[in-house]
Amino acid sequence: MHKMLYAAVITLSMCLLAPAHALDNHLARTPPMGWNSWNSFHCDVSAKLVEATADAMVSSGMKAAGYQYVNIDDCWLLKKRSADGKLVPDPRKFPHGIKAVADYVHRKGLKLGIYESAGTTTCAGYPGSIGHEASDAKQFASWGVDYLKYDNCGDYQGETYRQRYTAMRDALAASGRAIVYSLCEWGNKAPWTWAQSIGNLWRTTQDITPRWETDQPANSYPQGIMDILDQQAGLSKTSHPGAWNDPDMLEVGNGYLTDNENRAHFSLWALLNAPLIAGNDIRHMSDKVRAVLTNKDVIAVDQDWGGRQGYKVRDDGSTEVWAKPMSDGSVAVILLNRGKGPINIATTAHEIGLKGSAHYTVRNLWTHHTATSTGPIKASVPTHAVAMFRVWPGQHASR
Ligand code: GLA
Repeated sequence: MHKMLYAAVITLSMCLLAPAHALDNHLARTPPMGWNSWNSFHCDVSAKLVEATADAMVSSGMKAAGYQYVNIDDCWLLKKRSADGKLVPDPRKFPHGIKAVADYVHRKGLKLGIYESAGTTTCAGYPGSIGHEASDAKQFASWGVDYLKYDNCGDYQGETYRQRYTAMRDALAASGRAIVYSLCEWGNKAPWTWAQSIGNLWRTTQDITPRWETDQPANSYPQGIMDILDQQAGLSKTSHPGAWNDPDMLEVGNGYLTDNENRAHFSLWALLNAPLIAGNDIRHMSDKVRAVLTNKDVIAVDQDWGGRQGYKVRDDGSTEVWAKPMSDGSVAVILLNRGKGPINIATTAHEIGLKGSAHYTVRNLWTHHTATSTGPIKASVPTHAVAMFRVWPGQHASR
């Protein structure tokens, strides 16, 4: 075939195969990293908390590890809009308004996120944005907000999910500020089939809770880490740079999760290209929790520029193998033990998609130890834990 014609055919078929047009705001080219107030503080938000959290993000080494957004969730508002229809931050919680907090966070080299809802109220009963999108987006922009989490509570006034979420997308685009747009529609209408052209990320499930599993049905509240994981299988082809599946914010360091469970949760979220939004009190976390959240080898898997989401390779009931192709030709792999006792789990370079090579370089992303293998990748994995590796064909200089 003539070269030009060949190129045209390839381009055309790529366009036809593309799931949906991407949102072209050029943001979130890798999954957003940051912190959000909800999982630990619920309605107890304030300027004090947000500013102290920004301080801790710097002093803990989280900023250096890539965390950037400090996000205020629900309950930052007064229950009534002003006479001219504007949103009013609660003066007891934010005595100098949101702009002062944004300025503080920006001075630390970080970014500020805020929360609203695509209905008449937020989930905690504060004024929602439906019908006020343009004005609210302008307020956010004027305050210096960099990220909006847009929830699904309140009355929808007869509008479809598409209309409600598109209205805020367009309002943000017209606001004159670059604002990451995070859809929080709880996976109700399979957003992985339509949200790529609307938001930078979209929740795929109901709310997370700091438990390994709850065995609740998928459409109920709350969901454990394994419950949410099960709902991510099969979604890997639906995300790409700028458009991410969001299995909800991290619970690392919360509740009674063990060290192994914290590591497993963080590893799996990284392999899924999830936004890494910490949900613990980072002002007072233990060294162990800090070490999990700042593991650079694991974060590098999440932040790989190729943006290919990990997928389930094998499911043997209480053990699973997950893999993610990395842009340098290596593959990240997780051996997961969901069972009640320790167990040996194994896979091969071939099974995780690496082409034949005489030997492989295998780096353990939690011990940071690098070894050579002829193909098998195996570990004895404790209960509720993972082993996580990155595997390169041939010799790879260990870092
Ligand atoms: C919903 C969201 C949560 C949180 C709360 C706030 O439940 O899914 O993440 O934002 O609302 O009320």
